[in-house]
Amino acid sequence: MPARNASPPKGRAAPLVKGGKRPDAFQYSSCGSRRRTLRLPADHVPTHPRCSGPAMIVCIGIGPGSLDYLTALGKHLIEDAEVVAGFDTVLGLVAPIIRENATRIGMNYRDQTARLDEVAALHHAGRRCVVAFMGDVHFSGFQFLERVELACGHKIDTVPGISSAQIMASRGRVCFDETTFLTFHRRGDVEPFKRHLIHALEDGRNAIVIPRPWDFMPRDVAAYALEHGIDGSCPVEVWEALTQSEASWAGRLDECTAEFSDLSIMLIRAPAEFPSQLNSPESGAIQSGAIQPGAV
Ligand SMILES: C[S@@+](CC[C@H](N)C(=O)[O-])C[C@H]1O[C@@H](n2cnc3c(N)ncnc32)[C@H](O)[C@@H]1O
Repeated sequence: MPARNASPPKGRAAPLVKGGKRPDAFQYSSCGSRRRTLRLPADHVPTHPRCSGPAMIVCIGIGPGSLDYLTALGKHLIEDAEVVAGFDTVLGLVAPIIRENATRIGMNYRDQTARLDEVAALHHAGRRCVVAFMGDVHFSGFQFLERVELACGHKIDTVPGISSAQIMASRGRVCFDETTFLTFHRRGDVEPFKRHLIHALEDGRNAIVIPRPWDFMPRDVAAYALEHGIDGSCPVEVWEALTQSEASWAGRLDECTAEFSDLSIMLIRAPAEFPSQLNSPESGAIQSGAIQPGAV
């Protein structure tokens, strides 16, 4: 195995580092406009490259509920923030780690624009702000991210969290390589997403689906899939309040007719499991004698 700091083999580019700087010279943006290079001491605890400076704002995924699934970086940034904003339910989850004198800006679907304007004003006044997102920002969180960016007037960095989709994959023991993630929990036209769900299932992939409260819930998703020719015997699981007060249902696609809460996520399994392919000739495992066919 090559040493960690070895030069890249001839003909290969050196690993990319933001701004073309060495890894110990992070760059961060202040109000998204100016860029400065920050020299860090050798014993610096790595955090997010852009989470320092006079006018920091960052969007953080807090995980699916239990703070056991909040990353160390997310926790550090929330504890350190002067302003913590987010939907009321999300703020409630991180409440134990928000510092006492921090400004809390909770919001709901109706007042989010006005509340985000308050966050933007504090950010522009130089306060360290965090906007907390449920799960991971990059799973069904971009419309809210766009709202935060619109309020602030510039792009904002994200710190990923653990998504409910990942916890679903863990509970259902499915691999994302063979699984398509889809969300209907968004504003606008969801028809292309519905079509994509059918294509994914027709391709023999599993689907992890975030339903849309309250007009495209698990039973509506199941009915839609059946109407479009998906086999009613496909195994389905619906999980509620993952990592919190979990409850789950399992059955066939054509049996999925119950009502579930708005904190639910659905797994539709492919009718046949993907072969592991561990013992394919390309894996090299058999030639090396490491794995015998059928041993796993
Ligand atoms: C706007 S989406 C945000 C998803 C989030 N960004 C994530 O990565 O999990 C909100 C929906 O995600 C699903 N969800 C979020 N957390 C969940 C949990 N702990 N258990 C089950 N479903 C959850 C629910 O369907 C909820 O209505």
